Amino acid sequence: MAYITFLDTKQQIVKGNEVKEFLSTQDVIYEKWSVDRLDENLKKNYSLTAEEKQQIIEAFRAEIDDLSARRGYKTEDIVVLSDATPNLDALLDKFKEEHHHTDDEVRFCVDGHGIFTLKGKDGRYFDIVMEPGDLISVPAYTRHWFTLCEDRKIKCIRIFVTPAGWEAIYEENEVPAN
Ligand code: LAC
Ligand code: NI
Repeated sequence: MAYITFLDTKQQIVKGNEVKEFLSTQDVIYEKWSVDRLDENLKKNYSLTAEEKQQIIEAFRAEIDDLSARRGYKTEDIVVLSDATPNLDALLDKFKEEHHHTDDEVRFCVDGHGIFTLKGKDGRYFDIVMEPGDLISVPAYTRHWFTLCEDRKIKCIRIFVTPAGWEAIYEENEVPAN
């Protein structure tokens, strides 16, 4: 289950129902989809073929389609980050820069861990620490950044409307180019 840490006071929210309740006040979707249905190989392998990536997506097809119908998402893919990823540190440096998108950024964690730090509605920043089975959305226009945890790996399904709406905008007042 994901948990929350506020950056200023280090106060945490760890109980499942309280995490969900807090996230809903921030318009963040939280869902838990069981990863037990996946073969160990699909979970542990970080050099997936295109076919294996598709197998993971299809294992969650019903949940993806249900969420997409509710929220207007249109497509999905898989992103895999680990020490086997070329230029991992350069990528992580980029993800660590605060930014927003004009569409929701939705991530379902299949394996590994990740931290999304969001700027809350009251301006307080908080970490959402994700583990396998957690799905969250970063709402459109919400400022955020991303980091890995100590295991330095994550495999997640990204669900989105269009790749254009998911471009990173680094300056708070910048108008998207498209
Ligand atoms: C992204 C995450 C890193 O925009 O926020 O892909
Ligand atoms: Ni982002």
